[in-house]
Amino acid sequence: MAISNGANGNTSHGRLQGKKALVTGGGMGIGEAISRKLASEGASILIADFNEKEGTRVVNSLRGEIGTQAEFVFADVTKRADWDRIVSVAQEKFGRLDILVNNAGTAYEAQSSLTVSEEAFDKVYAVNVKSIFHSVQTVFRMMIEQPSPGGSVVNISSIAALRPRGKLVWYNSSKAAVSNATKALAHEFGPQGIRCNAVCPVLVPTQLANNFVPTFENTEEGRRKAAELFQIPLGRLTTTEDVANTVLWLASDESSFITGMDHNVDGGRSI
Ligand SMILES: NC(=O)c1ccc[n+]([C@@H]2O[C@H](COP(=O)([O-])OP(=O)(O)OC[C@H]3O[C@@H](n4cnc5c(N)ncnc54)[C@H](O)[C@@H]3O)[C@@H](O)[C@H]2O)c1
Repeated sequence: MAISNGANGNTSHGRLQGKKALVTGGGMGIGEAISRKLASEGASILIADFNEKEGTRVVNSLRGEIGTQAEFVFADVTKRADWDRIVSVAQEKFGRLDILVNNAGTAYEAQSSLTVSEEAFDKVYAVNVKSIFHSVQTVFRMMIEQPSPGGSVVNISSIAALRPRGKLVWYNSSKAAVSNATKALAHEFGPQGIRCNAVCPVLVPTQLANNFVPTFENTEEGRRKAAELFQIPLGRLTTTEDVANTVLWLASDESSFITGMDHNVDGGRSI
């Protein structure tokens, strides 16, 4: 039976009813869309972000517009102490975690690899890769030790992991690490009931997109030009909704036999 979700007119079929989800970087962009999508299907949402203002805005909107349980925890995903705090808040508010979306990510402006600063390199690897390392020793552990162990982990990688191009070499390679680790983690933790999948979008019009195409303008014309530049057969860019829909399926029991895969959400760009 469809459940109406009030003010925003979203209709939920409760595909995640009763599930507890953690979304990192849920304060804006792709993470916000994922949080809204999972909430609209009945999941309780914990947003971990270092942008308190935006994270709180999304949480309030999930509570008010969708009427789901939503909580915010301030966290820098590069820090182990912050992951320990995420787990205590999840334990206190939800008692368990069924879904982890490692979405928080960063990039530097596309440029010659002769000029990328060491600081930019370190930041990209800390936010995109080390965050997942920390999530394993905190959230995976929680998923294994909780009553009815297991969970679904979705790591937001990028088509850049699989079809890298110049000028963003260390961003691309950090996402290759995400996709590779996803497979090995799926192999290691499958027996404990943890599924791990990666989602690989092509350009998504968010704040981060300007790093990939510095001249990018988020207008109809700008998006059309970018889709042409990226040679996307389906003729448009990835939307935050495209990514959220794929994450929803991977988070749900509908994908219960799917693990260790890259899921390209790229309109055929990687063919
Ligand atoms: N936008 C694209 O074109 C694109 C394409 C492929 C993959 N991705 C990936 O999708 C994910 C989301 O990207 P987006 O475009 O929504 O970016 P965004 O910049 O719009 O949002 C990122 C969110 O993550 C949070 N965040 C960043 N660093 C953090 C940290 N250290 N600790 C806690 N929170 C942190 C930010 O505060 C923000 O809320 C990233 O992993 C990105 O690499 C993006």
